[in-house]
Amino acid sequence: MNREDDERAEPTDNRAYRRERAVIALVEGAELAYDDVGTGQPVLWVHGFPLNRSYWDPQTSALLDHSRCIAPDLRGFGDSTASPPWSMDQYADDLAALLDSIGVRQAVVAGLSMGGYIALAMWRRHRARVRALVLADTRAGADSEEGRRKRLETIALARQEGSGAVADAQLTGLVGKTTRERHPQVVQHLRQILASASVDGIVGATEAMMNRPDSAPLLETIDVPTLVVVGEEDVLTPPSEARLLHGAIRGSRLEVVARAGHASSFERPAAFNHIVGEFLASLVLE
Ligand code: MLT
Repeated sequence: MNREDDERAEPTDNRAYRRERAVIALVEGAELAYDDVGTGQPVLWVHGFPLNRSYWDPQTSALLDHSRCIAPDLRGFGDSTASPPWSMDQYADDLAALLDSIGVRQAVVAGLSMGGYIALAMWRRHRARVRALVLADTRAGADSEEGRRKRLETIALARQEGSGAVADAQLTGLVGKTTRERHPQVVQHLRQILASASVDGIVGATEAMMNRPDSAPLLETIDVPTLVVVGEEDVLTPPSEARLLHGAIRGSRLEVVARAGHASSFERPAAFNHIVGEFLASLVLE
């Protein structure tokens, strides 16, 4: 097994240190918990569904020497309150208000999957706050009819059987084949995060995703540096989706993380961090 294959066998986070620094901000009628660690260029890490800010521990703990890493729990997840309204626009407004509350004028907005939908909503509603974008394992389009039907199934599953059942239903799609075969501890760790989500948060986010607008027309307006990253084995938002984003966003950079699935940053943190670290360094040089 080479160093890259084994990278997740080493502890990459320092949770006790980071959890001590979790803070709560009252924004837009909700309490948002967030980590705010490190110094340098602010990076806002926006988690996917149904995750929480701890998903980004392998990034924030590795990149805090050069960046101010701000990782919130979206409303309804982690330690944030689960209160309506639920929409991508509301999540984006929450994050803009969070930046206000901590005195950050502009941040690199890095979103994974649903976090990418929110990053695009931030671009739509608060573009002056966006220094650059990292769009990881995400897409611009809205849900298809089939997609919306599956969302209703997720809502019913959450209400009837709880978050553990939703975690089990999501897990296979979230994690790449290589990770499933070689790193069961990573799969288990991710499952714990998924299963800790509240039913209200799951239902709210699912409705928000189901009703999100098509962000494809927005892509040609993006004029900040943009990194598109995707796991080679991502089956939910495959590399073909990443290529569409890359093709539509002028001057964007596309990187594929080998042997990783949808949760690319969690499955292969060293590779992901290297790609993002280089991107962040290029912004400082601009
Ligand atoms: C996510 O990882 O955030 C979800 O897969 C997004 C989605 O279900 O569309």
